Amino acid sequence: MEKISSKQLRESWNQFRILKHHTYLPESSLIGGKESTAMFTIAGMQQLIPYLSGKQHQLGKRLFNIQKCIRTVDIDEVGDASHLTFFNMMGNRSLGDYFKKEAVQRSREFLVDVLWFDSKKLAVTVFEWDTDTPRDDETAGYWKTMWISRDKIAYMPADNNRRSPGPVWPCGPDTEIFYRVGKAKFPPKNSNPKTDEDNRLEIWNNVFMEYYRDDKGQLTTLKNQNVDTGMGFERMAKVVQEKDTVYETDIFAPLLDLIERTLDITYTGNERRCRIIVDHIRTSFFLIAHDIIPSNEGRWYVLRRLIRRMYYNFMLLKPVTESVFDIFITNIVTFVDALMEAKADTKNISVVLIKEARQFQKTITHGQKLLDELITWAGKKPISGKDIFKLYDTFGFPLELTKEILEENGLAVDVKWFEQEMEAQQERSRAWSKDMFKQWIDRASHLQGITPTIFVGYETLESDGMKLLKDFEVGWQRILVFDKTPFYAESWGQMWDTGVVVLDDSTKVSVIQVQKYNWIFLHFVR
Ligand code: ALA
Repeated sequence: MEKISSKQLRESWNQFRILKHHTYLPESSLIGGKESTAMFTIAGMQQLIPYLSGKQHQLGKRLFNIQKCIRTVDIDEVGDASHLTFFNMMGNRSLGDYFKKEAVQRSREFLVDVLWFDSKKLAVTVFEWDTDTPRDDETAGYWKTMWISRDKIAYMPADNNRRSPGPVWPCGPDTEIFYRVGKAKFPPKNSNPKTDEDNRLEIWNNVFMEYYRDDKGQLTTLKNQNVDTGMGFERMAKVVQEKDTVYETDIFAPLLDLIERTLDITYTGNERRCRIIVDHIRTSFFLIAHDIIPSNEGRWYVLRRLIRRMYYNFMLLKPVTESVFDIFITNIVTFVDALMEAKADTKNISVVLIKEARQFQKTITHGQKLLDELITWAGKKPISGKDIFKLYDTFGFPLELTKEILEENGLAVDVKWFEQEMEAQQERSRAWSKDMFKQWIDRASHLQGITPTIFVGYETLESDGMKLLKDFEVGWQRILVFDKTPFYAESWGQMWDTGVVVLDDSTKVSVIQVQKYNWIFLHFVR
């Protein structure tokens, strides 16, 4: 495989798709544009949901782009070979134009003919079947004509190979493309994502959006057959540059180099901490560039957590003076800016990062004093998980830091106890939710005579002229009911939407939770 730079990778994707008659679709805002009520953009197709059901897009039926995304569900995996909180998704979309055959053909063409991927190392998954959908033999057939042998095709069940942007809305089976990583020239026979999972890196997902799931769980066939694909840019760079992890590609190497030089340490031996620092700085960079500042809720809290985690990993790598830390931050954000060609206000970004780190340092200093006292009391005995949990829960002192300090003092952490406490806390919060539920069931009298809410969120994520039907309180919680709503209510284990409603008297309220009761949508507001 020819080694290509990440810049060339971007260009190859753009040129390939233009050659295949696709139009460039401008990226949507990373923090969810006005069309989105989600916390962050997590996939390139988010902005296209309304068009999957047949609505015409002004740019046409064949679109592509490279979308900046943030996914924090895997935050604890960051530091391994491939997980990131911020990544770029290369993707092509067909809105009722080409379908499975062309999608599969072009995927292989891009990988093998353009990027020179070794076709022997490719393997794929294909949708197995579900009670309401047949096995996707059609797609498997196309892969076979593309020189992917039967043993490289793994049929996977619906929870793996059916994609949907939500529990309702358009959805469909997908086919995922995996590359065999590692040094072996020839993958063993029968190596596919099922049999050889550890050596298989998922690089590209092609989703065939051909169904619509309603909120009773019923599937119907969509008017259009659509294709939505997503390929992790950083993972692709890892493969084409033949690196062991995404962090060793030219996307991150200059940032890691800066850490080594600033702290006079080596990356080797400190990989995990270094990776967490560069990942979290990059994500924070873009959040702050989108005017997010650290706080205690929603996306603002995600930013706070990222900065704090970055900071204590930095200090655990090597405690430095404030001025060394400031210089590091000021330099690294200009590097991110240059590498990503972002042209952001780097001065402002470093000010926000440094300010939050300083504030967190106070928490650390305070927590450390408490921990020192605990260590003195404990003598040689292990410190109870309950105390450690309190340090974390009440004072925000990170468990990782506690562990390091205790280990330095030759003391063990009773992690099991800590986990039990954590579980107990989650149980308390579940009980609280149940209690809330009971309270509003008790107050169902408020809802008498109210007709079911019309849900307009499938077509739009914004709505004008919602009529307020009821405004009442349960306990201390204010609840609003409207005649119609674009807010998705909690259902099928899926999160509710959050957002803002402007009331008739022009006051703005934040919708923090949405629940459904007898098809009446209850908006919990603040
Ligand atoms: N939107 C699809 C995904 O996230 C491509 O995998």
